[in-house]
Amino acid sequence: MEMLFFWAFSIVLTTACCAVYDYGAYDPTRDDFRPGTFPDGFIWSTATASYQIEGAWNVDGKGESIWDRFSHTPGKVDRGDTGDVACDSYNKYREDVQLMKNMGLKHYRFSLSWPRIFPNGTKEDGVSQDGVNYYNRLIDELIANGIAPMVTLYHWDLPQALQEKYGGWVNEALVGHYHNYATFAFQTFGDRVKYWITFNEPMIVCSLGYASGEHAPGIQDSSSVSSLRCGHTLLKAHARAWHTYNTTFRQLQRGKVGISLSLLWAEPRDPDLPADVQAANRAMQMINEWFARPIFGDGDYPNVIEDTVQKLKLSMELPELSDEDKSLIRGSADFFGVNHYSTRIAADKPSHIQTQSVLESFEMTTAPEWPRGQSDWLFAVPWGLRRLLRYIKEHYGDPDVYITENGWSDGDVQPPILEDTDRVCYYMTYIDEVLKAIEEDQVKVRAYTAWSFMDNFEWARGYTERFGLHYVNFTDPSRPRTPKQSAKFYSDIIANNGFPEGAEITKMVQDMWGKCRGSDTVKEEL
Ligand code: NOJ
Repeated sequence: MEMLFFWAFSIVLTTACCAVYDYGAYDPTRDDFRPGTFPDGFIWSTATASYQIEGAWNVDGKGESIWDRFSHTPGKVDRGDTGDVACDSYNKYREDVQLMKNMGLKHYRFSLSWPRIFPNGTKEDGVSQDGVNYYNRLIDELIANGIAPMVTLYHWDLPQALQEKYGGWVNEALVGHYHNYATFAFQTFGDRVKYWITFNEPMIVCSLGYASGEHAPGIQDSSSVSSLRCGHTLLKAHARAWHTYNTTFRQLQRGKVGISLSLLWAEPRDPDLPADVQAANRAMQMINEWFARPIFGDGDYPNVIEDTVQKLKLSMELPELSDEDKSLIRGSADFFGVNHYSTRIAADKPSHIQTQSVLESFEMTTAPEWPRGQSDWLFAVPWGLRRLLRYIKEHYGDPDVYITENGWSDGDVQPPILEDTDRVCYYMTYIDEVLKAIEEDQVKVRAYTAWSFMDNFEWARGYTERFGLHYVNFTDPSRPRTPKQSAKFYSDIIANNGFPEGAEITKMVQDMWGKCRGSDTVKEEL
């Protein structure tokens, strides 16, 4: 899913870039384990998304979404998998909440399905009371069990009706429609929901949905025009929803509204080689800044986007962000939501630098020693997360950071992988890097969210990649859930609020550290 999404800017003819980031000297203690606990009140969460878990795609008046349409189109999803039933959480949400409670979770991130609430996309065309009731029941069940809901308003399942009528996010008419939907959600659920995420991974929405076509609505447009239009609409829609919350709901409801961006860390192949350092900077700018800089930075698009917009404007009409738009977008988030999974090594490609696109001015690789998940883009590089967090602090004015996703995939194999050591290692080492970022770099990380609470529909990969802390048997009509070893491990971390020092380091951490390192030398190392 999250492979590199350079489609959006494939014709950029620039190598201009920003101030060069200082990567610092190599730290020989980089991979050491650091015991310790997280600040009081640190938020531990797990996440899912409506289309990936709910099923019940056409019951109780739910409207069709672009993912229903896409997954029902032959050839779009591996093995022809669909989200028609998925984990059946529409019917099994009570059991899910009990499993969360068993883990000691106090927060849960899930998304609302827009067409379950407005089947035809707009309130005027009808509200599904059954859909509203479902989310009321889920929210009430969570709260009754001491779990605070963190709600994503848009996790990719646009009403198909809006796709058909307007062409989806390429059309600015969706700013108003999204705004009405978000306002309805604040009004209806905001008495109990205190954390809102406007959009999940806008860059993936636009580049995979409107350039490569790997995701719904499946538009292929290598010119960048559709993806840039999409990004433009999402930024405006996000900002409008935040401002409405800020002016109309905040005082009474006292919640927070942010956005979740998918960010990758790019490490220069040779940190002593300025050309590689600049290549890594270009890579970071291309991948991370499209949405981060307008919202959390100085309000402008990064140079790579601006240059693309300028160039495309010569040949076709492309909307630009006005100064008014920019000032509405700048600062429109109460927290910086980070979805992070992996790292790449970036190196300069000098022979192209004068003539080719910025995309061709660097190459991205991985290191042979990095463990790979089932997803072809997912390599475990824990220290990349710490660096990314420090970069966010330094680049974006030291915001409150909520890690809204981080996790590991394994395969759909028999027998099922319930002793998921690789996932446990991934969580242990990545969470430890979050601790280092808080303690040593003073990054204001307030939340950590494991993706995912359970195995689910992994978009174009269907059920072939499993990210869950709970195993779901998709061949059994009752979709039983079974906690994996990682669920127990993560619940231990939650109970201890991290990895308490010295003799208190849990036995589980000790055992695992040896396994993760492929050695039994855990005691000496710790
Ligand atoms: C990003 C997305 O938000 C989520 O839906 C997806 O399943 C995970 N990452 C894993 O690819």
